[in-house]
Amino acid sequence: MAEIRIRKTNEIISGEENVRNFLNQFEVIYEHWDVNKLPAHLQENFSLTDDQKAEVLATFDTEIKDLVARRGYRTWDVITLSEATPNIEELLAKFEQIHTHTEDEIRAIVGGAGTFVIKGSDEIGYFDVNLLPGDLISVPENTVHFFTLTDDRKVVAIRLFVEENGWIAHPFEDPSFQKA
Ligand SMILES: [Fe+2]
Repeated sequence: MAEIRIRKTNEIISGEENVRNFLNQFEVIYEHWDVNKLPAHLQENFSLTDDQKAEVLATFDTEIKDLVARRGYRTWDVITLSEATPNIEELLAKFEQIHTHTEDEIRAIVGGAGTFVIKGSDEIGYFDVNLLPGDLISVPENTVHFFTLTDDRKVVAIRLFVEENGWIAHPFEDPSFQKA
């Protein structure tokens, strides 16, 4: 299950209900999928072929169609990132710049782990949402954030889009932001 760390205070928020309630105040959606549905050969596999990616999508077809019905997504895909990904350093450096989008950024983690760093209210400041397999998060449009990997540097995630070009990153300047 996801866990939240508030950067200013180091406060940890854990437990599905607490995580959901905390995120909902910023209109961040948090849901949980049953990743045990994934066939064994697709679990802990961070270099999926195109056919295997299609199998991952087929496994979660019901969950995807449910999101489509509720939130109007039109396309979706599977991404994998690991040490085997060409240009992983370059990609991570690019991801780790705070930015916004004109549509929500939704990710369902189906393998590995990942962290969304999100800017909350002035009082809360930035917080990390550490995501594990089964965790789904949707960061609303115009909310300042970035996505990064954990030290393991392995993730498989499903992304959904209303418009692919709605997801272009617009850099956000914040001199007070510190990465670590
Ligand atoms: Fe983003």
